[in-house]
Amino acid sequence: MCGIIGYIGKQKDINIGISALRKLEYRGYDSAGLAVFNSDQKEILCLKKAGRIDNLEKEVLCSNLALQGNTSLFHTRWATHGGVTDGNAHPHFDCKKNIYLVHNGIIENYRELKDSLEKEGHVFTSQTDTEVASHLIEKFFKGNLENAVREALKHIKGAYALAVMAKEDPNKLVAARLSSPLVIGISETDGYMVASDATALVSYAKKIINLDDNEIAVMSPSDFFILKEKQPEILETKSEDIQKGGYPHFMLKEIMEEPEAIENSIKGRLIPEEGLARLGGLQNVTEELRKMKRLLLVACGTASYATLVGRYMLEEYAGIAVEADIGSEFRYRKPVIDEGTAMLCVSQSGETADTLAALKEMKRKGMLTLGVVNAVGSSITRETTAGIYNHIGPEIGVGATKSFISQLTIMALLTLFLGRQRNLSLIKGQRIAQDIQGLPDKVRAVLATQNAKVKEIAEKYAHFNNFIFLGRKYNYPIAMEGALKLKEIAYPTHAEGYAAGEMKHGPIALADENCPFIIIAPVDSVYEKVISNMQEVKARKAPIIAITTEGNEAIKELADDVIYIPKTSEMLTPILTTAPLHLLAYHMGVLKGCDVDKPRNLAKSVTVE
Ligand code: M6R
Repeated sequence: MCGIIGYIGKQKDINIGISALRKLEYRGYDSAGLAVFNSDQKEILCLKKAGRIDNLEKEVLCSNLALQGNTSLFHTRWATHGGVTDGNAHPHFDCKKNIYLVHNGIIENYRELKDSLEKEGHVFTSQTDTEVASHLIEKFFKGNLENAVREALKHIKGAYALAVMAKEDPNKLVAARLSSPLVIGISETDGYMVASDATALVSYAKKIINLDDNEIAVMSPSDFFILKEKQPEILETKSEDIQKGGYPHFMLKEIMEEPEAIENSIKGRLIPEEGLARLGGLQNVTEELRKMKRLLLVACGTASYATLVGRYMLEEYAGIAVEADIGSEFRYRKPVIDEGTAMLCVSQSGETADTLAALKEMKRKGMLTLGVVNAVGSSITRETTAGIYNHIGPEIGVGATKSFISQLTIMALLTLFLGRQRNLSLIKGQRIAQDIQGLPDKVRAVLATQNAKVKEIAEKYAHFNNFIFLGRKYNYPIAMEGALKLKEIAYPTHAEGYAAGEMKHGPIALADENCPFIIIAPVDSVYEKVISNMQEVKARKAPIIAITTEGNEAIKELADDVIYIPKTSEMLTPILTTAPLHLLAYHMGVLKGCDVDKPRNLAKSVTVE
């Protein structure tokens, strides 16, 4: 999604803002732009370019504009309203070229605002919803920028994170948010940087302030104020977290970090000898959770597959009635709720618009709301009553990899926590805790021993256009994750994930030598059933790639290629079967020449509906 950087400080070099903007590239974008106030010329100079930041930088080098100044705005745009053109890129400006702004989100009433502003004589130069904000601020501007912004925002409906400057009120940067994240970075030696994602601030600031909805921040090179007093928090992201560390791509680095992600997610949270999970973030709601009868799990994309695995775990070991739904559907449902119902949202970014909207709706209805989130201080963490952090550092690749493994791990911890509050025995609790503890080494072993085989499989099958992924019970959601990751990363390959038992109700029509089947078949309680499905596929001559448990040699009679995972308890097998599927998507994406870290049309955090 779009990325915002605003800078105000002692330095005049725009590279400080451009390098911060580069740290937002991973979010996905299709054009970039900048505006800088040149105090000698008393003008705001602006450049905008469709395409990558590299295009913008080339334009900067060729330009004869004096692009220097201590107040500046930078933006990466992910097109929503209006095509990918230089003119639609941000910053946007008013008629007098006094007000310049960058915006994330969607101004839902832009059509009516634009009509009435045009009637008042404003002339628009783009097709975007954003441009109405600059003209609206122009309408209310009487020399003081924050007053004009405050007035303008009263008329805007929708979601926004905004950074604004005005040449007629210089040495000032104004930032505001509603339902779209915005963070202020405080430098120890310079000034302030505002960003839509704290990741961009790591080289500049040690302390940050997360703006809350409806807050407006006003910054000068030496001072800032927010309408409400807030204490700065420590920025925990480190520079090395957002570097490739010797890997060719972030995606591969993050897959290789999956064992460490599990370690970080379980650190200090397991008491194996007592068969318990200690979840500090749920401490304040322990008694409510003990009484809880039903849990609604809500998430989007890959995170939603973690909730589907969580449903199997929680029903089987905690005896709780669980419903799992995707945010974009749940937000429009009218779920039947009672006092014993709670909601748990799962989101890496903590900013996914559909999940957030569903959460706000349930909160309004008085439901206990919980979160499993990676991004500290994000909107979902602030809207929920209690929650569990993943603690895995930033995930830069657009494909969710280590975050998914961590979400699955937290689902297992939650199952242990809630199960032991209920009927789960000490012995079973101890076994689950020990198995969770053994996961990092097992995933490490899968990555070390199977990567070469997976790469070989990718090379062998890269020319196929369609793939079907099958799995049952705990590994049914993993079939969907494998398929999503393959089409997301190795486009235009098409892939579908199915419950193996559903195959005979439709997808079997596709089974022939042109459609490989990737069948997840660990030796577990549904193994024999999956083998029957494999027979059906084999009978129709479709190539088969199987993922199964070490020592299972018999499967080679049916499968053309086999990937092995170590033994673990059934409910934890998804954590082991996922790792090779992430590698498969990665290798196939690289072979197809795809931009695996920033797949086309996609954004890391989906902050629009
Ligand atoms: O930040 P979130 O976990 O809420 O994101 C949810 C989905 O947008 C995300 O998992 C998406 O499906 C990934 N790109 C898949 O790899």
